Amino acid sequence: MTKAKQDKTEKDYSTYFQTTFKPPSLKEARRRRKKTIQFLNDFSIPDDIEEIGKGKKYLIRTYGCQMNEHDTEVMAGILEEIGYEATENEENADIILLNTCAIRENAENKVFGEIGHLKNLKREKPELILGVCGCMAQEESVVNRILQKHQQVDLIFGTHNIHRLPQLVKEALFSKEIVMEVWSKEGDIVENLPKVRKGNIRGWVNIMYGCDKFCTYCIVPYTRGKERSRHPQEIIDEVRELARQGYKEITLLGQNVNAYGKDLESIKNYGLGDLMDEIRKIDIPRIRFTTSHPRDFDDHLIEVLAKGGNLVEHIHLPVQSGNSDMLKIMGRKYTRERYLELFYKIKAAIPHATFTTDIIVGFPNETDEQFEDTMSLVRECQFDGCYTFIYSPREGTPAARMEDNISMEVKKERLQRLNALVNELAAESNAKCADQVVEVLVEGASKKNPDVLSGHTRTNKVVNFRGPKSLIGNLVNVRVKNVKTWSLDGELIEEKAEV
Ligand code: SAH
Ligand code: SF4
Ligand code: F3S
Repeated sequence: MTKAKQDKTEKDYSTYFQTTFKPPSLKEARRRRKKTIQFLNDFSIPDDIEEIGKGKKYLIRTYGCQMNEHDTEVMAGILEEIGYEATENEENADIILLNTCAIRENAENKVFGEIGHLKNLKREKPELILGVCGCMAQEESVVNRILQKHQQVDLIFGTHNIHRLPQLVKEALFSKEIVMEVWSKEGDIVENLPKVRKGNIRGWVNIMYGCDKFCTYCIVPYTRGKERSRHPQEIIDEVRELARQGYKEITLLGQNVNAYGKDLESIKNYGLGDLMDEIRKIDIPRIRFTTSHPRDFDDHLIEVLAKGGNLVEHIHLPVQSGNSDMLKIMGRKYTRERYLELFYKIKAAIPHATFTTDIIVGFPNETDEQFEDTMSLVRECQFDGCYTFIYSPREGTPAARMEDNISMEVKKERLQRLNALVNELAAESNAKCADQVVEVLVEGASKKNPDVLSGHTRTNKVVNFRGPKSLIGNLVNVRVKNVKTWSLDGELIEEKAEV
């Protein structure tokens, strides 16, 4: 097989589009059919592939959101099942996968930079398999650019093709041509995939996949397919198993977790509130969830979250803009007033809750006044943290057909002003923690100083303090001594009893 690879000189692209390998299509991916989602439990590795990676090493570089991070854990699981071992060093790797993000242009540029950088390595080591997967692989323009300009890439596969990794690796090893498999479908759910999780303290669990919100600027509904929920029992079993293995914190994942359950045919009227109400009974200290869409955040969920316990009081509630007209053309389906109403409702039910959000500045036609509405909303909500972004047109989305008419200078200026406010509010929120005792899940030691431990509070603030490494993985009480904008320094008070 190595020989075949070494013989590989010129790749022949002419036949791709006539063969079984269909190029990705955003138009096709946009379709939402009535077809029922298939729940598959039939992932298995054919005998001839079982040991294909024996003695070889893999490296996966991950870009983008937590969903991508978790997909990487699945791909690592699959690669280890077929014999590969992990490496951090690209020179030792026999296969390198770039698990990519398409959310903004700069995310894509980073990946193209990396592909360019790996060209030299590939030249020195022609048998190396270089693969591109994740959200960018779902875009036809990206795939065309790779086919034309980056012939060092051996393998391209999409977000719906992860379970096919064993077959794709085999093909890439034996084929002289680039192997491409990107299904532009709405997606199924494959349940029995192996996973190798990063760390053993905090774990991610998917509760649903895809997004049907089609916010006008966003590529995710095209790259991830339609909203589809896992069965509650599968999720509960996975969380229980992680609790049994000693994990201390679970983050339930989905692009729009508040739509959880809407598509489930076998259980009617079962939503995120119902799921959380069952999960909170599992013996695990902390449960988080992300990302919430304000539109689907219902009263039952608020009621359940207010029960507290292992459901932590941190809500990430992306607002995107503080102006109702902007929200309308962004397709967010709520107004400034509705957002604030929800915000205060949650705050009343969970008084100690902290809120974080996402904001886009410089959306087409955004006026200075409209931007000021965003500033005033941020000030009013006193967010603990905001992820702020400059609008980036994404090909194929409705907003990309609008003129991107705010100059980069104005966009940058707005971003700077917003970030200054965000920092000020974060510092104010942290200042309130001075001299308070906070519960910290100890996640690791500082790289610079192994005596300094680091972790998060329930409200997701970073806390650093001195203590023995043996505390890693435990919940401890720390008194906050020194307050910074994005972290707190504290003193260990006591180690809590093992939970
Ligand atoms: N599902 C989540 C967000 C996923 S993407 C939600 O709806 O909240 C994370 C963030 O990236 C978004 O909240 C948005 O603020 C930002 N984003 C998405 N598309 C963008 C674009 N085209 N340009 C700039 N920022 C974008
Ligand atoms: Fe994108 Fe909107 Fe879906 Fe979030 S809810 S992933 S911003 S389309
Ligand atoms: Fe990026 Fe895809 Fe996540 S576009 S933000 S990796 S869903």
